[in-house]
Amino acid sequence: MVVSYTDCVKLLAFSLFVVAASGFYRNMPLVPFDEGYTHLFGNDNLVVHRDGKSVHLSLDERTGSGFVSHDLYLHGFFSASIKLPADYTAGVVVAFYMSNGDIFEKNHDEIDFEFLGNIRGKDWRIQTNVYGNGSTNIGREERYNLWFDPSDGFHQYSILWTDSQIIFYVDSVPIREFKRTASMGGDFPSKPMSLYATIWDGSDWATNGGKYRVNYKYAPYVTEFSDFILHGCAVDPIEQSSSRCDTTTQGSEESIPTGVTPMQRIKMDNFRTKHMTYSYCYDQIRYKVPPSECVINPLESQRLKVYDPVTFGGSHRRHGKRHHRSRTSRSEAANAI
Ligand SMILES: *[C@@H]1O[C@H](CO)[C@@H](O)[C@H](O)[C@H]1NC(C)=O
Repeated sequence: MVVSYTDCVKLLAFSLFVVAASGFYRNMPLVPFDEGYTHLFGNDNLVVHRDGKSVHLSLDERTGSGFVSHDLYLHGFFSASIKLPADYTAGVVVAFYMSNGDIFEKNHDEIDFEFLGNIRGKDWRIQTNVYGNGSTNIGREERYNLWFDPSDGFHQYSILWTDSQIIFYVDSVPIREFKRTASMGGDFPSKPMSLYATIWDGSDWATNGGKYRVNYKYAPYVTEFSDFILHGCAVDPIEQSSSRCDTTTQGSEESIPTGVTPMQRIKMDNFRTKHMTYSYCYDQIRYKVPPSECVINPLESQRLKVYDPVTFGGSHRRHGKRHHRSRTSRSEAANAI
């Protein structure tokens, strides 16, 4: 066992690099790109900006691009400010996510933010998803539109992962609270994961008759990432048991969220009422019986029917290539565009 506690301490040392984050978590240490991340694919389509704190990733006819964290983390708070490519981005997928698919091929875990392109004049759609221990036959996707144009400027996208819940945030708004339940079993992510950010050509799913393929006339598609927060404990993926890291107690100040506050819950409910367009819990095509954690709300069900009366089939996830990710269902991405 090499890591855990030492790395936690090292992580605290990152606070030496504290810069005032523009967004929600003002006291969180921001990690310079090279400290936290490394190039994953796409050659010079990944460019580290001169300040060392931000990068851009681009997609052109040759390749997409991506980066991955140096370490694997068991629980924590992970965040990046992201600016998405503007204008026509049909078929373009940008993802910010956690996964351990390279280490646990058969039973990997995953926590996803996925941006599923747009066509001019239409909003970007954002999707969140969770897999645990290879539960890829049970997608737990939700989709939303946003209250701003995510290609217009930087917004903060964050994941809080503890052993009892996962919360997704957009800026200061928790948009999804995913609580662990006993009946979920291994479907709740429980092994150390790396952070990833990628941009790639999702034409193969987004196709729908070739209508929504990436159009390289508009390339390069450029997305920018900045304000990296990697607030968790780096652990050895195999010997994770000896890790004693707890994101809610270690680290700086009280700035790490530990759950949804009553005030935030109002915002979250408000967001979900106005902006959620799909939830797996209400997808009667995929789930004759909703997964056990679902609490069905008839009003929500009514609302979602407006967006998505029935739609989308199975999930055709492929394993293996780490950057060909977001392997959620094809028709789904098509619908989202
Ligand atoms: C996770 O998957 C492995 C391999 O399929 C299995 O042996 C193990 O029991 C599962 N763990 C949980 C908590 O379900």
